[in-house]
Amino acid sequence: MNEQLKNDLTHLDSLLEAVKLQGLGFLEKISDRPTSVTASFPSDGTLNEIGLGGLTTLEAFNNRFEKLLVASAGPRYWGFVIGGATPAAIAGDWLTTIYDQNTQATQGQGDLSAVIEMETIKLLLDLFDLPRDFIGGFVTGATMSNFTCLAVARQWLGKQLGKDFAKDGLTERINILTATPHSSTLKSLAMLGIGSNNLDKVKVMEGNRESIDIENLDLRIKALNGQPFILITSGGTVNTVDFDDFHAISKLKKKYNFWWHIDGAFGAFATCSSKHKQLMSGWENADSIAIDCHKWLNVPYDSAIFLVKEQYKILQLETFQNSNAPYLGDPMENFSYMNFLPENSRRLRALPVWFSLRAYGKKGYQEIVENSIEMANYFGRFIENNQAFELLALVRLNTVCFTLSGDENQEKVAAFLTNLNGTGKVFMTPTLYNNKKGIRAAFVNWRTTVADIELVTAEMSKLIKT
Ligand SMILES: Cc1ncc(COP(=O)(O)O)c(C=O)c1O
Repeated sequence: MNEQLKNDLTHLDSLLEAVKLQGLGFLEKISDRPTSVTASFPSDGTLNEIGLGGLTTLEAFNNRFEKLLVASAGPRYWGFVIGGATPAAIAGDWLTTIYDQNTQATQGQGDLSAVIEMETIKLLLDLFDLPRDFIGGFVTGATMSNFTCLAVARQWLGKQLGKDFAKDGLTERINILTATPHSSTLKSLAMLGIGSNNLDKVKVMEGNRESIDIENLDLRIKALNGQPFILITSGGTVNTVDFDDFHAISKLKKKYNFWWHIDGAFGAFATCSSKHKQLMSGWENADSIAIDCHKWLNVPYDSAIFLVKEQYKILQLETFQNSNAPYLGDPMENFSYMNFLPENSRRLRALPVWFSLRAYGKKGYQEIVENSIEMANYFGRFIENNQAFELLALVRLNTVCFTLSGDENQEKVAAFLTNLNGTGKVFMTPTLYNNKKGIRAAFVNWRTTVADIELVTAEMSKLIKT
């Protein structure tokens, strides 16, 4: 055995203890750690011959990179839609690395850790109050989840036309209807060979909304003259967290032949709050759903699930099966995740989720979700009541989309945000909404409190005066 490896193995406890203490130090001070860094580091791409050993490497990391890492898991990182990690999720994540399973199968011999993944999917279905007729699995993020679901949708559409796209490639135009898809959906369409331009935008509802106008959708469907299509819906949209009307779409589903996909990356968690649950009402009738776990479930990156109705198992298998590997056996008899999603080798991504769900239960998640919504509303009220700012849309759930008041100040939005992020006390991201430059603050982190909002609003008030 290599000397450095042997030494690290002998002193594994010191290495892991040092990492544990460092981790605890980081987590204890996460609220004080900057949310932005601007430093640039000279890169050193030369690999040392003998190696440093684990503890010296930790020192090297600390000397060079530790300060580069921001408090994105902390309470005031409101850009994009960034969650944190609950204590139990961190424990599960550590164990995922330590046990280092290649999660595929639920029966037979060898690694059977997919049993844990299957159970975790059931727990999530329970959390979301969804029926059990979905096949679910873990992928790296909602982008890959959208990709996975739309890949099965593509195969379904082919079948409607008597084609097998998975085997023979795309030979037909694929009709896609949608209103306000997330950019990751367009990316998925590009990766699937469908094309990111190849979609028909349905009108959105009147009154500063991003959700589908159902009447217009009905007209667009009729214009397709019975051709099959894929409907991509949002629950909710990333800019203003608008939700498509899943009840109305459920009714259309009875009338027309289409694949219905929901991108519920973070909006799906509205179901954890009895007050907001109705936003997702009817979603159980969708054919496929994408949900992120590294956002509102507050588990570490990278973690998301796809849910595809079990009745499409064969289409899913046709899409993802490893066809040319007799040693894997009959995929219909020996279930293996590698035949139902993009990756072959994969980590036990379910374990942090299993830990966090078991540790905090339905009540824990209800409180996390309701707290985030309360924080968004608290911050939204500050924007509404401050003449220097204006809301670009109603605060519907957990995101505040706002700008500087007055058209004359549009040119100042970017500089204001740069200065605000430059304080290192908060991080928000720019956006464009209805042709206006804006700023988004998304609340999904379990740690955020009123004191955090007040700290940020004080900084904003200070900056706006300068
Ligand atoms: C609605 C929606 N869909 C998809 C995604 C992509 O998620 P991920 O970055 O986890 O791939 C996001 C990310 O913010 C999102 O908000």
